[in-house]
Amino acid sequence: MTAPRQPKPPSRGARATSPGRAPAAPPPARTARELREATVAARRRARPETDTNPLRQGLRLERVPDPCAFVLFGATGDLAHRKVVPALYQLWRTNLLPAEFSLVAVARRPYTDKTFAAEVKASVEKYSRVQPIDEEAWAELAKRITYQQLDFGDDDGFDRLGDRLDELDTERGTAGNRLFYLATQPSQVTEIVRQMGRVGLDHELRGSGWRRVVVEKPFGRDFESARHLNHEVQKVFRESQVYRIDHYLGKETVRNLLVFRFGNGIFEPVWNRSFVDHVQITVAESLGVEGRGAFYEETGASRDILQNHLLQLMALVAMEPPTSFSADALRDQKLQVLRAITTPDYESVRGNIVRGQYGGGWVQGEPVPGYREEPEVDPESETETYVAGKFTIDDWRWSGVPFYLRAGKRLPKRATEISIQFKEVPLRLFRDSTGDPAPNVLAMRIQPDEGIMLRFAAKVPGLGLDVRTVNMDFAYETSFVVDSPDAYETLILDALLGDASLFTRADEVEAAWAVVTPIINAWAEMPPPHFPDYAAGSWGPEEGDALIEREGRRWRRI
Ligand code: BG6
Repeated sequence: MTAPRQPKPPSRGARATSPGRAPAAPPPARTARELREATVAARRRARPETDTNPLRQGLRLERVPDPCAFVLFGATGDLAHRKVVPALYQLWRTNLLPAEFSLVAVARRPYTDKTFAAEVKASVEKYSRVQPIDEEAWAELAKRITYQQLDFGDDDGFDRLGDRLDELDTERGTAGNRLFYLATQPSQVTEIVRQMGRVGLDHELRGSGWRRVVVEKPFGRDFESARHLNHEVQKVFRESQVYRIDHYLGKETVRNLLVFRFGNGIFEPVWNRSFVDHVQITVAESLGVEGRGAFYEETGASRDILQNHLLQLMALVAMEPPTSFSADALRDQKLQVLRAITTPDYESVRGNIVRGQYGGGWVQGEPVPGYREEPEVDPESETETYVAGKFTIDDWRWSGVPFYLRAGKRLPKRATEISIQFKEVPLRLFRDSTGDPAPNVLAMRIQPDEGIMLRFAAKVPGLGLDVRTVNMDFAYETSFVVDSPDAYETLILDALLGDASLFTRADEVEAAWAVVTPIINAWAEMPPPHFPDYAAGSWGPEEGDALIEREGRRWRRI
């Protein structure tokens, strides 16, 4: 969790050297500082909700990172175009990047600085969350884009990259600070990191500036490969320089989970086995594999979502309060949870973990093909597009409390939700009244319709005793009247600021693989599954429902 950010001291403010982003026709007598202050004031006025909405009062200003070069490997790829560059543009537009900033795009294909900037602009226009894009701000950012053609196996190319970065320190004032963002194929990570080590791009010599590397998921494909990858990365970078992305950790609602748990006094006392009956976590997607058939064939729902997003959410729900919000204090507590999850053996995989694969069907009124009909997918594929499981945590707080986790593609809707299902009251005093109340539920909607709902019993007005379950709802959209940043904006800014709390540490990644690898191995030994076993647009295979229903519980309708 990012600690509250302090306002940046004026001397490190960025805009004085960004003339293109100052107001178009400033009164002549103003100094650069006055101009900057006037711009900030004008922006505040343009966002009246900041002043009028009481929930936004007291929110702090963001910090601006140090001058730096952002070296984007895989700059011509899908992730760079859809997520990384639009997030950088958004940070730039909102004055959260320093003026002394340089985006060094690195990939194999030939481009010039200009042709790359033009191509990436089209993507920003398409994927930016704020439309239309601000041409003036983009033009300023585009001036800071430079393209470096590079084959990852090419030693000379990496030498040239090192030289170019040194030049930028002089030309652009990037001060030796470098963030290397690996938005490449996972198989290329080891080679790129090795090359960076060879050229010394990782070195943080005294006064030379900071060096950090961001690695995208998937981080390995099982316990052994993740451990090997950690080893290779740590041969070059110190762990404190490594930022492993799980983008769920950057989502506003996920960050709020910690505020909700540890910023309020009333929930912690009931957050345990004495009061909680069970926990459900669902990551449902209506989309299929969206042209990523080849990638997904190698991954499946267990590697794609369970090992990272689902287990991270589970860790945040179940962790003990950290003693501070420092990156390590937080990650130590998550690690304890991941290590305390009962390792599934063959029999428990058979009994407690369900996999499924979608066939053709209808999603939101449209006919869609089955997984095996998707491009680049084996027509006999046994890859799971759905996984559901019951997990337990062997510790004092959660012993005996089941955590039901599920994720699937081509489900009826996109919805990620965590629900804490509380125990029944000890004596059901109202069982004879009309409408016996159901147990309390606290549901945290991660996306969409971000918010938190508490379900409790209430008396229906009237002379009789009619009891109903009602919902008390908090919705981000109406309470804060402000758009949430995209997870990538949050994570990139944190990496530039050197705050690793929303990134996964090597031991965490390995602990999560230690839970998922036995599942994958057990499946490999089992007879082939009868796929497809759920229709696109349904809530997954029947076994997924049976998993929870045979224990007298039901998946919450979301
Ligand atoms: C990614 C997975 O990590 O998360 C994708 O690789 C999935 O398969 C995506 O679609 C879901 O992310 P979000 O933010 O849309 O819930």
